[in-house]
Amino acid sequence: MRLVLVGPPGAGKGTQAAFIATARSIPKISTGDIFRANVREGTELGVAAKQYMDAGDLVPDEITIGMVRNRLAEDDAVKGFLLDGFPRNVPQAEVLGGMLDTMGTQLDVVLELVVDDDEVVRRLSGRRTCRSCGHIWHVDFDPPTVEDVCDRCNGELFQRDDDRSETVRHRLEVYAEQTSPLVAYYAERGVLIGIDATGPVDNVTERALDALRHHG
Ligand code: AP5
Ligand code: ZN
Repeated sequence: MRLVLVGPPGAGKGTQAAFIATARSIPKISTGDIFRANVREGTELGVAAKQYMDAGDLVPDEITIGMVRNRLAEDDAVKGFLLDGFPRNVPQAEVLGGMLDTMGTQLDVVLELVVDDDEVVRRLSGRRTCRSCGHIWHVDFDPPTVEDVCDRCNGELFQRDDDRSETVRHRLEVYAEQTSPLVAYYAERGVLIGIDATGPVDNVTERALDALRHHG
């Protein structure tokens, strides 16, 4: 199955991507995670991306698209994939469509996670991520047993630099202006499915897997 997750920052894309990718046995390709790993390792790509990420802006298309093109060419993505965080604007969607055309294939589903801005702010302000295994926690909604320690691997939890409240507001504006047009774009192409992404994580996963049941 070839699947894209779309939704505002904090909608739960990363959280749900992990469950869906495992359930459907497809690789999870998260452009945000790839950028953050490059920033951590101090690669050329990471150095180029960091200033945009810290400001809550999109990393320029010429950087992002090349990175995704390389990732989709890897063996594990040939039979299917879940894209989390890409495409992020219409030009990226056009390029992705072209890449898939060349491969003789197309997207099965674009799954939109629908939540309002207040909920997103609550989710992002309490998010903590594990430095070792990448698991996503929340201080109120999904707290680890010991503060700032991952229950899964004992790794250290950290707060993302772009989760400060001023940056979150800007990320929401960027989503509204640049990313939300993708909802209509994919609806016109008949691949969009929107689900309610509020309520407990397990319920959202259930809705997502239900929505995908008859696809791919
Ligand atoms: P990226 O990492 O993609 O960030 P984002 O889209 O802003 O999304 P988030 O990771 O913030 O949120 P999420 O929806 O994954 O929510 P999560 O599951 O963590 O991108 C970061 C930056 O990289 C961008 O700003 C840009 O600079 C750059 N970038 C990336 N892709 C790019 C591209 N294609 N083009 C250009 N630039 C790009 O959940 C959030 C919190 O809520 C967690 O604490 C979680 O525990 C909690 N939670 C989740 N579900 C629930 C629930 N049901 N109930 C209660 N709490 C919940
Ligand atoms: Zn961990």
